Amino acid sequence: MPVQQTLFDTADPSTAGVEAIELESGATILRGFALEDAAALLVAIERIADAAPLRHMTTARGWRMSVATTNCGDAGWLSDRSGYRYDAIDPETGRQWPALPELFADLAARAAREAGFAHFEPDACLVNRYAPGARLALHQDRNELDFDAPIVSVSLGVPATFLWGGATRADRPRRVRVEHGDIVVWGGPARLNFHGVDTLRESYHALTGSVRFNLTFRRALLRR
Ligand code: SIN
Ligand code: FE2
Repeated sequence: MPVQQTLFDTADPSTAGVEAIELESGATILRGFALEDAAALLVAIERIADAAPLRHMTTARGWRMSVATTNCGDAGWLSDRSGYRYDAIDPETGRQWPALPELFADLAARAAREAGFAHFEPDACLVNRYAPGARLALHQDRNELDFDAPIVSVSLGVPATFLWGGATRADRPRRVRVEHGDIVVWGGPARLNFHGVDTLRESYHALTGSVRFNLTFRRALLRR
């Protein structure tokens, strides 16, 4: 059973009373942590997608991903027939990915701190859009050069079922509902856990319609 606790021992009064659910050591859900910033995050996502369009990438095996993806930050995550990697240039536009907005970096750092990871400075933000029927198969985030930094994952729009697996693909994932404004943070002993998102169901959110957005913040490159 998840340990449920309310964190009142934080030094930051603005985050006092955040509902934090520990999935396991190193992995925490912060319920509603992004709620206040959600509308601004969605405006920023629109701006990012104007400069670097959301697109369905291809897996190494040639499958079209059901999730539509773009990036912002110094490094953008890419998948194509040659595999997964990070690149500073968006192959679709030939330009650098849009800069990571201040609000994004600040929110990610605050969430990481709340979950026990101080000084998180993301350099990559994956922007995923899930339409009804889209899913993300179980995987590990392991293309980053820095596994000391956590992963910070922000849910916006319609709810989804996050699949929280274990250290091996064979570990049966736990099904965790993630809603608009929730943030999942994992790092330390849980940094390489398998995870994914179950097929998105038809539903409605006032700010996004039938769609779910996810922002995944990472430290992809080594610290200078
Ligand atoms: C990811 O693993 O990259 C995204 C997870 C999510 O959409 O919640
Ligand atoms: Fe992931």
